[in-house]
Order: sequence, then structure tokens, then C-alpha cells
Amino acid sequence: MASNLAPQFADEAPDRLQFLDDTLTGLREEPKRLPCKYFYDETGSALFDRICDLPEYYPTRTERAIMAAHADAMADEIGADALLVEYGSGSSLKTRLLLDVLERPAGYVPVDISRAHLLKSAAAIETEYLDLEVLPVAADFTTSFTLPEPERAARRRVVYFPGSTIGNFTEKGAVALLEGVAECCGPGGALLIGVDLRKDVDTLERAYDDSAGVTAAFNRNLLVRMNRELGADFDVDAFEHSAVWVEDAGRIEMHLVSRSDQAVSLDGEEIEFERGESICTEHSHKYTLEGFAALAARAGFRVQEVWTDEDALFSVQLLELPE
Ligand code: AVI
Repeated sequence: MASNLAPQFADEAPDRLQFLDDTLTGLREEPKRLPCKYFYDETGSALFDRICDLPEYYPTRTERAIMAAHADAMADEIGADALLVEYGSGSSLKTRLLLDVLERPAGYVPVDISRAHLLKSAAAIETEYLDLEVLPVAADFTTSFTLPEPERAARRRVVYFPGSTIGNFTEKGAVALLEGVAECCGPGGALLIGVDLRKDVDTLERAYDDSAGVTAAFNRNLLVRMNRELGADFDVDAFEHSAVWVEDAGRIEMHLVSRSDQAVSLDGEEIEFERGESICTEHSHKYTLEGFAALAARAGFRVQEVWTDEDALFSVQLLELPE
């Protein structure tokens, strides 16, 4: 499979040294933290796919329903001959709803940090959409990467960024990311983005602490990954999963809480934990429509259209850049 894609496959995923460096930096801080982008190794990506199917995790099915109901209108707004670039493409599940109705897309560029997952999904899209040029890029989309040129010139570039992954960034990080998207699209480009909305605390906390324990396994997989790839010696069961809504910050925070006083060794360094001390592994911000429009404006985007479900749990928004 990889050999079919090899000629156009661009590989810019961060290496082990970067992972080690980011991990040590985060664990030396007070409070301790780890970048959530490292959730997505092969196991993490598979666990995330399971999260998306959980009854408590409303974002995926709600976003999919919005896409299914409004894909035609989205395709009309995007127009013909667009190059579709997807940030964090994963299994490209929602993208198919768009690819089914887009008029003569000039190409599809899935960008994902998880190399194995990316290759598998890109190969599947290639077989399903025979006329579509698929140009996968294994990269961290928060850093700059080279956008491949499709054989047929595109009329405009449109970034698709579903899943409300924007919510996993700090405010500053989100603006920087949107600026990166604006640079990637260029004048006249657009961003079709999934944005999770504010709602009651119970619904939010259950979405990040499901009864089957899949989100807990996803969170703890970071420790498993550090043990395997960085030679750390975390006792995975000595850390508890926690997910809480923080009203002032407008976000869910995921943590791994130490069940005891303990020390972990990582690359010759001893990292001390007190009982109850936690590592913050993820922020997941939830927005009001006005709040998100103001954030987007800071990167030069204007909200062109907003589609939501009838309970206003989630939104898909088309943001445009001036010509
Ligand atoms: C990828 N991202 C938008 C998910 C979220 O909802 O913040 C990641 C996730 N973490 C736990 N469950 C899902």
C-alpha cells in the first residue's frame, strides 16, 4: 500500500527527539503538562476512532449529521476546482460527505501526524474516488509544511478542519493556527471548520469521561507511548484519568492524576509526583458563535456561513479570506 503512494508521499512527521524534548519540557513545568498532539500514535488514533462512536461523545455524530444535511450547500459555497486540504485527516470519514458533492475538486491533500493511519486512509480514498488526485502529507499541521501542487491548477485553496480540533489549542495557539491556515490558503481561500459549542456541564464532562473507559485508555496511552518510545518507566495504573469543565477558561481539561507519591525515570531524569498531582494532557475549548467569530477575525477570516444541529450542540462554519 505504501509503495503505491510513495512517489507523492511527503513525510514531515516529528521524530523521536522532538517527542522526547517536548515531553521533558512539559514534565519539568509546574503544573506538569504534555502536548495533546502526542495522543495520536497508531493505538491512540484507533482509540480516538472508538471515542467518536461512543454514545456520550456527541461531537462526531452531530458534526456528521450537519455535514450530511448541508454538504450540498457547503459545496456550492466552496465552488468548482478547489484544492481541498484537510488538517488532521485521520480516517477522512466526514470528508467523504464533502468529496461526494464537490464539483471537480483539483485535488485532496490529507495532512496528518500519524503516518500509518494517513497512508491507510489516503489509499482508501484513492480507490473510492478514482478521478481524484490524492496527495498525502505526514506532518504536524501546527508547523509549516510544504503544500504539494496538484497536476490540475486549483481555482482556490480550501482547508477543511473538522472535529473541533481548534478547541485543543490555547487562544494564542488557535490564532496562530488560523494564521497558518490563512497563509496556506492565500487570498480568496477559505476554511471549513468544525467548532464545538458551549452547553451544559454534565453533557460536556460525560463526553470526556465515558462509562466504557475508552477516553481513560486514550489518555493513559500517552504513558504507554512514553514507556515504549522514550524508555520511560511510568506505572500506567498508578495514574487516574480525569476530565473537568473549567468555566472561567471555557474548556474541558483532561488530566492524568498520580494515585501516590512516586518517581518516574525518563532519559536519565527522575520526575517526582506527589499523590494527587496531575499532568494536564488536553484542553478542549467550547465556543459561543460570537466568541469564535472574534477569534477568526484576528487571523483575517470573516464568517460566511454557519450550519448547526437543532440543539445547537455543534457548528460547521465557512470562513473566508478577502481576495
Ligand atoms: C480531537 N479533539 C477535538 C478531541 C476533543 O474532543 O477535544 C480529542 C478528544 N479528547 C478526548 N476525547 C476526544
